[in-house]
Amino acid sequence: MESRNIRLAVIPGDGIGTEVVTEGLKVLEAVGTKIEPTHYDLGAARYHRTGETLPDSVLQELRGYDAILLGAVGDPSVPPGILERDLLLRLRFEFDHYVNLRPVKLFPGVETPLADTTAEDIDMIVVREGTEGLYAGTGGAMRRGTPHEIATQESLNTAHGVERVVRYAFDKAQSRPRKKLTLVHKTNVLTFAGDLWQRTVNRVAEEYPEVSTDYCHIDAASMFFVTQPGRFDVVVTDNLFGDIITDLGAAIAGGIGLAASGNINPERTAPSMFEPVHGSAPDIAGQGKADPTATILSVAMLLDHLGLSAEAAKVEQAVADDIVERLTGWTGRTTSQIGDDITARVSG
Ligand code: NAI
Ligand code: MG
Repeated sequence: MESRNIRLAVIPGDGIGTEVVTEGLKVLEAVGTKIEPTHYDLGAARYHRTGETLPDSVLQELRGYDAILLGAVGDPSVPPGILERDLLLRLRFEFDHYVNLRPVKLFPGVETPLADTTAEDIDMIVVREGTEGLYAGTGGAMRRGTPHEIATQESLNTAHGVERVVRYAFDKAQSRPRKKLTLVHKTNVLTFAGDLWQRTVNRVAEEYPEVSTDYCHIDAASMFFVTQPGRFDVVVTDNLFGDIITDLGAAIAGGIGLAASGNINPERTAPSMFEPVHGSAPDIAGQGKADPTATILSVAMLLDHLGLSAEAAKVEQAVADDIVERLTGWTGRTTSQIGDDITARVSG
């Protein structure tokens, strides 16, 4: 990777997506990587102009990049679900982003709503399955709009799909100091899917003798995220449980302005995509109020994925140092001022 430029596809998207991505790119360039960004105009504006969400030709082009950086897509003027399903979910499925990686880490200096909780108590990674479960789109509706309407939405879990994400989570756990993996599910009620997940964890665990394993039902895990977040190191869970629990994770670790994520294809058969967890925030778009930190932390994950771990650590440290100086919450800096301050630390 050292010798050639990183080919990066950039999808700024809508609303604050464009604002935060600008700052992410500033930091990426300042950290000394040879990157070659190409911008793609996708999202609500494109949809209104041409009716397109993700043209097949663009999908094919995107395949050729080393990674994708995404801001956020969505606007109140687009019916809900269109951009999520036809753009974001389609990218995840087509590029086999079976790991949705979401760190939940409380940086020193960040306020958490949890009482008596410090940075040492919240440092985990949620490994959310990204291509199956209730997001697979199986099910259907009949007699729609009548009193006899039937709607089913099935959770699809394959042995292959569960095993690969569980293996990824064990590898992650093995690489971390605490070496602990917690399966979060609802095995007592979702007995078919839960059985497959639990058996898979038990079997793969035999290959990782140094990793300790634990299990929590999703409801109990939601409680423990708030009452005892320190019990979690690596959490592995299905698509929907992971979606919900990571919003809770973002809330306890300082809010949506700091939550980063990666949609990862570990086999690298297609580019992985990095994005802040938040959306396009139409309520503050265009005002310079968005916190670009979540995007900058997503850039750190992108660097790490590309094997540039020293650069990734530098970006994360710059964010940590910047955060320590934010006394509590919002400091009144604009989006680009925060980006500039973090960029200065990275280049210094
Ligand atoms: P949102 O995350 O855009 O905003 C929720 C609240 O958090 C708003 O009050 C917003 O101002 C605030 N917020 C979000 N990011 C912030 C940041 N970086 N700095 C400071 N404040 C921030 O979620 P919402 O309002 O539910 O959705 C808005 C649009 O975004 C919708 O169209 C939705 O579909 C889309 N969306 C897109 C996502 C993506 O592209 N991956 C993810 C989530 C939502
Ligand atoms: Mg979500």
